[in-house]
Amino acid sequence: MTAPRAEANLRFDFTGQTVLVTGGAQGIGRGIAALFHDAGAHVAVLDRDADLLARSWGEAGDRVTTHAVDVADADAVAAAVEAVVAWSGSVDVAVNNAGITRDTVVWKMSPADWQAVLDVHLGGTFAVTRAVVPHMRAAGRGRVVNVTSYTGMHGNIGQANYAAAKGGIIAFTKTVAKEVARFGITVNAISPNAATAMVAAVPADKLAEMTASVPLGRFAEPEEMAAAVAFLASAEAGYVTGVVLPVDGGISM
Ligand SMILES: NC(=O)c1ccc[n+]([C@@H]2O[C@H](COP(=O)([O-])OP(=O)(O)OC[C@H]3O[C@@H](n4cnc5c(N)ncnc54)[C@H](O)[C@@H]3O)[C@@H](O)[C@H]2O)c1
Repeated sequence: MTAPRAEANLRFDFTGQTVLVTGGAQGIGRGIAALFHDAGAHVAVLDRDADLLARSWGEAGDRVTTHAVDVADADAVAAAVEAVVAWSGSVDVAVNNAGITRDTVVWKMSPADWQAVLDVHLGGTFAVTRAVVPHMRAAGRGRVVNVTSYTGMHGNIGQANYAAAKGGIIAFTKTVAKEVARFGITVNAISPNAATAMVAAVPADKLAEMTASVPLGRFAEPEEMAAAVAFLASAEAGYVTGVVLPVDGGISM
């Protein structure tokens, strides 16, 4: 499958590796999974939306496996990871990208909307990481790349649940990076900014304000996030761990 990304000079080679991407049925996750597939990897896409998975990946061939899984369900995630290892023999790279928003100011936020966002982002990142690390540890190498957000570092009105989850992912990234460094596993995060369905849900006036605040003047295409993930997942990034790499057009300056 040809990744629908901007003309690129940088080429990655993940032939022989298995890359697991959550939330890969659309948006940033799909762009990330497509780049790894183009780069020769076996790709396992986990997403809760079975129809979208089939539409995005149904024709992709025998280097792709899809699993309709809610990442908030740690048992289902563990079973999917075992199925992926049975399929290809390993999980070399895990990308924790699946996410949702349930925005409103904190005094109007229901406990259910608080919990759902924490469960998907933070719970999902935990569930995948705990399931893949034993396999990476046995292999003596591995890469985990988490997806956080500007909001997780700076806050954003209406997103107390999302900010708490994304801030938690940064703390989780640094802690697990310290825990697994001795096994040859790195754990990093990206902080993206891309035009996806999640961004399309933002009201037009707020979106115009957000776009105006991007030094590079635009939201990226989802595929533009993928090269940063591939770099962090590469052998060349073996001495990079515990970092948050903004891929955000400069908003975090
Ligand atoms: N788009 C941006 O500018 C931006 C900015 C900062 C952070 N992010 C983060 O990037 C990630 C991807 O966002 P996106 O913009 O591509 O969103 P998106 O809504 O386009 O895609 C999210 C994907 O995750 C899947 N998903 C949602 N809940 C799930 C669950 N419980 N289990 C499995 N899959 C689930 C969805 O089905 C969908 O395919 C998210 O973690 C988001 O918070 C995005």
